Amino acid sequence: MSTTTAEPVRVLDEEALGLLFTHAHTANSFAPIEVPDSVLERLHELTVMPPTAMNTQPLRILWVRSPEAKTTVGALMGEGNREKTLAAPLVAVLAFDAAWHEHLETLAPFRAAAKDTFAANEPMRVGMAKTNAAIQMGYFLLAARGLGLDVGPQAGFDAKGMDEAFFAENGWQSFAVVNLGYPAADGAGYRERQARLGFEQQTLTV
Ligand SMILES: Cc1cc2nc3c(=O)[nH]c(=O)nc-3n(C[C@H](O)[C@H](O)[C@H](O)COP(=O)(O)O)c2cc1C
Repeated sequence: MSTTTAEPVRVLDEEALGLLFTHAHTANSFAPIEVPDSVLERLHELTVMPPTAMNTQPLRILWVRSPEAKTTVGALMGEGNREKTLAAPLVAVLAFDAAWHEHLETLAPFRAAAKDTFAANEPMRVGMAKTNAAIQMGYFLLAARGLGLDVGPQAGFDAKGMDEAFFAENGWQSFAVVNLGYPAADGAGYRERQARLGFEQQTLTV
């Protein structure tokens, strides 16, 4: 394949990159401001657009809105995650749906004939669901940042308990809890930035 020097392409400016990546931090506390339902709908709309394998989109989201549900989630959080989760303006439990193949006709009509094959192979479905829901979690976090929210993703919680409390009927399986809200003043919600590995450590060129 022959290549030419790239024509100027549209890229995000440094401010936008900062909002998503370089200035953004994981947050442990937030401004005391409600996150409106319209923002949740937009967040979902953005999260589902980037790619997943065969367009499977196995991520499922539980918005924890009621005080009762918040108390239940709080009790299931690991000790170090409990207080900040109870204090967060909004909490989302991220789960995957291993029955993603049920939507194949809509999401991947070009593979609809394979539905029975997927139905018969649960380990494969679970594997694909875990991988692609984790990819979608990344999209979710960046989409939230793009909408001006701070995010506090957490894996330290009782996933089995969460599934029993909220997903006994639909069979979704939780894998992360994300605290969300608008940034606290003066970076009060942030820990000190830890190191990132460098280009030489994480990439090879052949
Ligand atoms: C999948 C995942 C699980 C995490 N679990 C926890 C957790 O249980 N508790 C916690 O305090 N932080 C948790 N974190 C936050 C990370 O420690 C944090 O994002 C990372 O150190 C980068 O911090 P920075 O954004 O401030 O640079 C988790 C992050 C991710 C993406």
